[in-house]
Amino acid sequence: MWQYNPRVAVIKGVRTPFAKSGTHYARLTALDLGKLAVTELVSRAGIDPKTVQELIFGNVIPSVKAPNIAREIVLGTGLPRRIPGYTVGKACASANQAITSAADLIFRGYADTVIAGGAESLSDIPILFSRNFADALVGASKQKSVGGKLGQFTKLRPKDLAPDAPALAESTTGLTMGESAEKMARENGISREAQDKFAMQSHVRAAEATASGRFKDEVMTVIVPPGFDNIVEGDNLVRGDTTLEALAKLRPVFDRKYGTITAGNASPLTDGAAAVLLMSEEKAKAEGHKPIGFIKSYAFAATDPFDQLLQGPVFALPTALERAKLTLGDIGVIEMHEAFAAQVLSNIQWIGSKKIAQEKLGRAEPLGDIDPETINRTGGSIALGHPFGATGARIVTTVCNELQRTGKQFGLVTVCAAGGMGVAMVLEKE
Ligand SMILES: CC(C)(COP(=O)(O)OP(=O)(O)OC[C@H]1O[C@@H](n2cnc3c(N)ncnc32)[C@H](O)[C@@H]1OP(=O)(O)O)[C@@H](O)C(=O)NCCC(=O)NCCS
Repeated sequence: MWQYNPRVAVIKGVRTPFAKSGTHYARLTALDLGKLAVTELVSRAGIDPKTVQELIFGNVIPSVKAPNIAREIVLGTGLPRRIPGYTVGKACASANQAITSAADLIFRGYADTVIAGGAESLSDIPILFSRNFADALVGASKQKSVGGKLGQFTKLRPKDLAPDAPALAESTTGLTMGESAEKMARENGISREAQDKFAMQSHVRAAEATASGRFKDEVMTVIVPPGFDNIVEGDNLVRGDTTLEALAKLRPVFDRKYGTITAGNASPLTDGAAAVLLMSEEKAKAEGHKPIGFIKSYAFAATDPFDQLLQGPVFALPTALERAKLTLGDIGVIEMHEAFAAQVLSNIQWIGSKKIAQEKLGRAEPLGDIDPETINRTGGSIALGHPFGATGARIVTTVCNELQRTGKQFGLVTVCAAGGMGVAMVLEKE
């Protein structure tokens, strides 16, 4: 069965503190955030920038002006200009795609040192004109006389002037992520109480991990440009004082009448960036680096978005484990991306279900049971935030650091993504 051999080493990972959109980084772009994370990564890893051979970055809502954020990061950080860069978009698994693409380059021997990661600014989303208004603008630009230019706008209706912002909705199903998660909660019988309990666990653990200094290895300090008078030292979405009572009082957002998903048990709209440095095992050894982990295997998969949209990881997991020649029982550290508490609990339910194994995975037996209390030991996306393009790199870094801290040998990352996609990655300590 296929796996990386020789292995691909994760040398270091670093991220900006994550911030609720519209707060600390309200005036920054995803590119600004990506540059901050990559600059810090290169400095912390102590590598010669000349040795980097490629930069791959995930970004879900690209800037219209600089869509290839990866190359812009190279050009904007003082890295040697001969380093190529490309940007990947695989929804919330974009940084995972960046990391696995980097690992594939290294495995093939095409590179031995690659930076991968992702960035997102939900404070800086492109607001588009309607198609009719855009046509009028283009038409006016082609007219020579003032009358001709103005004439292009006479057919517009008031609704054509309304701005068009990107929605967090599937273009195939028309449902938002939140509505899709509501559907999963309903079909799997995931109660509001169970979701709130899981959300509280995320906050309490994230607060504890922050207070204990556990994130120092992976979270940088950002002195926010251009004023440099705001020093951001940690994530600003974590609420260590969250209680079940406070969570229970929040109104459902996506199905106001019968729904169970609230601002408290969903991941919030977030700005941030994360980056990891990957090397071939041989190069890492030759340069005296102590890797924080190794990538053992991965698998991407997809399911029908009209079924349960955020169950992609369930389909990716068996392949990733088979490729690593491991079973779920071998895994000591599990990090599952928390788009919604309802999604994590649904993923866990399906992973443990014999019926799902037989009907959807073509397996006689399920992979095994995961206790929600044993995963995401330092909190997850509900508490820490979820800058779409960056989350995968945050989680890979956290799993590696947790493997080092706990001494466990194998770690698992799962991330669900729009379009019914999902990824599972198996990491190992040494
Ligand atoms: C759910 C969502 C709509 C909420 O957005 P929002 O209304 O701007 O959220 P806020 O942070 O303002 O929180 C709303 C309220 O809940 C409260 N709240 C949020 N989390 C809480 C917690 N853990 N404990 C107690 N109260 C909490 C806030 O204090 C706020 O209260 P207020 O109105 O009295 O100020 C938004 O976060 C969202 O769209 N999330 C999903 C994103 C998504 O789809 N991602 C894709 C996943 S793959």
